[in-house]
Amino acid sequence: MYKLIKKDGNAKRGEFHTVHGVIQTPVFMNVGTVAAIKGAVSTEDLEQIKTQVELSNTYHLHVRPGDQLIKELGGLHKFMVWDKPILTDSGGFQVFSLATLRKIKEEGVYFHSHVDGRKIFMGPEESMQIQSNLASTIAMAFDECPSSVAERSYVENSVARTTRWLERCKKEMARLNSLEDTINKNQMLFGINQGAIFEDIRIDHAKRIAEMDLDGYAIGGLAVGESHEEMYHIIEAVVPHLPVEKPTYLMGVGTPANILEGVERGVDFFDCVYPTRNGRHGHLYTNQGKINLFNKKYEKDMRPIEEGCQCPACRRYSRAYIRHLLKAKEMLGMRLCVLHNLYFYNTMMEEIRDAIEKGAYQSYKEEKLYGMGQLTS
Ligand code: GUN
Ligand code: ZN
Repeated sequence: MYKLIKKDGNAKRGEFHTVHGVIQTPVFMNVGTVAAIKGAVSTEDLEQIKTQVELSNTYHLHVRPGDQLIKELGGLHKFMVWDKPILTDSGGFQVFSLATLRKIKEEGVYFHSHVDGRKIFMGPEESMQIQSNLASTIAMAFDECPSSVAERSYVENSVARTTRWLERCKKEMARLNSLEDTINKNQMLFGINQGAIFEDIRIDHAKRIAEMDLDGYAIGGLAVGESHEEMYHIIEAVVPHLPVEKPTYLMGVGTPANILEGVERGVDFFDCVYPTRNGRHGHLYTNQGKINLFNKKYEKDMRPIEEGCQCPACRRYSRAYIRHLLKAKEMLGMRLCVLHNLYFYNTMMEEIRDAIEKGAYQSYKEEKLYGMGQLTS
């Protein structure tokens, strides 16, 4: 259940109530594709860095260790010892980006596993069954994410199929939630808007899925090669056609600037690998912009990554030490960098929520972008 607490322009401050607790929105979900946040980050760590939602992937967990095994062990929450909300992506997107020899049919997708080459079939029913076995808080609909350069006729057919798949997802989820041995009988389903960069296809699709009374609505198929301006334009076009009393989720986005722009246009949920991936490479987010700890100028720098930051890295360690750890390929180096970056994102979301509540979102956003060197005026 989503409760809209406050609107500031189109920016929404909400609360999403789930069986695993309340999610304060706007929120950044921390990506742990294979039920692990890359960089040796534990679930105890997540509690220290203000993580609200962990995100895992249907496709990866189905391939390894297998969703049946996770179900036998009591579900993903018990498996990774995390009792707050978990969102699982449906597998659609990952099948398209990772698997080989794919064939898309009306019934679903045939492909070969990226781990062992084994033949796998996944359709809407299979994706829902796997996500039900994982027992995540929120399941995503099984969709196709067409390429940003796909032709109009391809996108039209693809989106029509994604809509038919969504109807099958909804039906299968209702069936699974009514079964005796389902772990999370309150599992929620988010639909996904597609349509590449064709505004009219996007809008028709948004209207169509808005009628289906789902628990939330995602905008997929963005940040896949189109320009930032095109992405912002599509968000602006789509959001007004999604129900304001439901959460909206911009999938796979993005940089701090992308998130600030998304919030301004009414987005509640975000996720992205940037803070974890960049952290593993020594690229760190600060309020003064990104820094690269491999740079020689940090060799003798005894200051924390960011002055005043309360993350586990900055409370104790210096740039010089973390730089040494990274160069020596010590796991602790990556871990501290990932913790700082996730803390930076999670803290920014907290600031965003405060700013919306105060009706000061616009000035907050401008100041934040200016500080990071992303706004010159
Ligand atoms: N993650 C980023 N983009 C997408 C998308 O379009 N669909 C799905 N299922 N996941 C995504
Ligand atoms: Zn820090």
